[in-house]
Amino acid sequence: MIEWTPALSTGVPLLDEQHKAIFQWLAELESAAADERTLFGVYAITRLKHYIREHFTVEESMMKSAGYPDLVKHMAEHAAFRTKLGELQVKSIGQDISADTVVFLRDWLVNHIGKTDMAYVPYLKS
Ligand SMILES: [Fe+2]
Ligand SMILES: [Fe+2]
Repeated sequence: MIEWTPALSTGVPLLDEQHKAIFQWLAELESAAADERTLFGVYAITRLKHYIREHFTVEESMMKSAGYPDLVKHMAEHAAFRTKLGELQVKSIGQDISADTVVFLRDWLVNHIGKTDMAYVPYLKS
C-alpha cells in the first residue's frame, strides 16, 4: 500500500500533515484502481487534486515569505503537475484508474517531496 513515510518529512508540521493527506488520497486511488471501482476512482482523484491545489498554494506562500531563491522553478514543477493531474482526472471519468496512473502519481510525489520540497527546508526553518 502507498503511504507517507518519515523519510519524506520536511520537519514543517503543517506541510507534513498536508503531504500525509495527499498520500492518504493516493492510497484510496490505488485501492480504487486495484478493485476496479470506477466511480470511487473519479472521486479519489478529484479529492487528490483538491488537496494538492490547497497544498501547493500554502507551500508557495511559505516559500515566498521565506524569500526562497528557487521559488519560480518550484512553482513551475507544481503547475506542470497540476496540468497533468487535470488531464488524468478527465481521463478517469468513465473508466478505471490504471495502475500506471497510480505509479506515475506516486513516483512524481516521492521525487518532488524528496528532492524539490526538501530543498526549501533550511530556508523555511531559518
Ligand atoms: Fe509539497
Ligand atoms: Fe512542492
